[in-house]
Amino acid sequence: MPTLYLHAGLMITALLSALTGASIAIIFRRRRWWLLYHRLLEIGAVLMIVGGFAAAIGMIVLSGEEHFATLHARFGLTTALMAIATICLGFLQLSRRIKKTARPAFRELHRWSGRVTLALLAVSALSGLRLAGIV
Ligand code: HEM
Ligand code: HEM
Repeated sequence: MPTLYLHAGLMITALLSALTGASIAIIFRRRRWWLLYHRLLEIGAVLMIVGGFAAAIGMIVLSGEEHFATLHARFGLTTALMAIATICLGFLQLSRRIKKTARPAFRELHRWSGRVTLALLAVSALSGLRLAGIV
C-alpha cells in the first residue's frame, strides 16, 4: 500500500508540474523568464515520472503479478516513454549541434509531443485512479 501512495503521489505531482510548465510556455511567452521556469518544471515532472515508474515496478514485483498486464500499465509505459522523448526534443530544438535550418522542425515536434504527453499523463492518472477504485 505505501508503494501505491508513493506511485500515485509522484505521478499526480508530475502531472501538475507538467501542466504548470506548459501553461507558462503558452501564457508567459513574452516574459524573459518563461523558458527557465518551463524547463525547470518540465525536468522536475519527468524526474517524478521516473520515480513514480520505479515505484510502480516495485509495487508489481512485491505483489508477484505480471508487469504491464493492465490497460493502465500500458498507458503508463507509453506516457513515460513520450515524456522522455519530449524532453529530448526540448533540448534538441535549442542545441547548437542541430543545424539552424532543422531547428524549426524540432520545435514543432516538441510542441506536438509536449501536448500528446500532457494528454497521456491526464489519461494515465485518471485510469490509475479508476483502477485503485478512487474515482
Ligand atoms: C500519469 C500518471 C501515471 C503513470 C504514468 C502510471 C504508470 C504506471 C505503470 C507503468 C504501471 C505498471 C507497472 C508494471 O506493470 O510493472 C502502473 C501500475 C499501477 N498504477 Fe499507475 N501510473 C500513473 C498514475 C496512477 C494513479 C494516479 C494511480 C492511483 C492510485 C495509479 C495506480 C496504479 C496501480 C493500482 C497499479 C498496479 C496495477 C497494475 O497496473 O497492474 N497509477 N502505473
Ligand atoms: C516533458 C517535458 C516537456 C513538456 C511536456 C513540454 C511541453 C511543451 C509545450 C506543450 C509547448 C508548446 C506551448 C505552445 O503551445 O505554445 C512547449 C514549448 C517549448 N518548450 Fe517544452 N516541454 C517539455 C520540456 C522542455 C524542455 C526540457 C525544454 C528546454 C530544454 C523545452 C523548451 C521549450 C521551448 C523552447 C518551447 C517553445 C517552442 C516554440 O517556440 O514554439 N521544453 N513545451
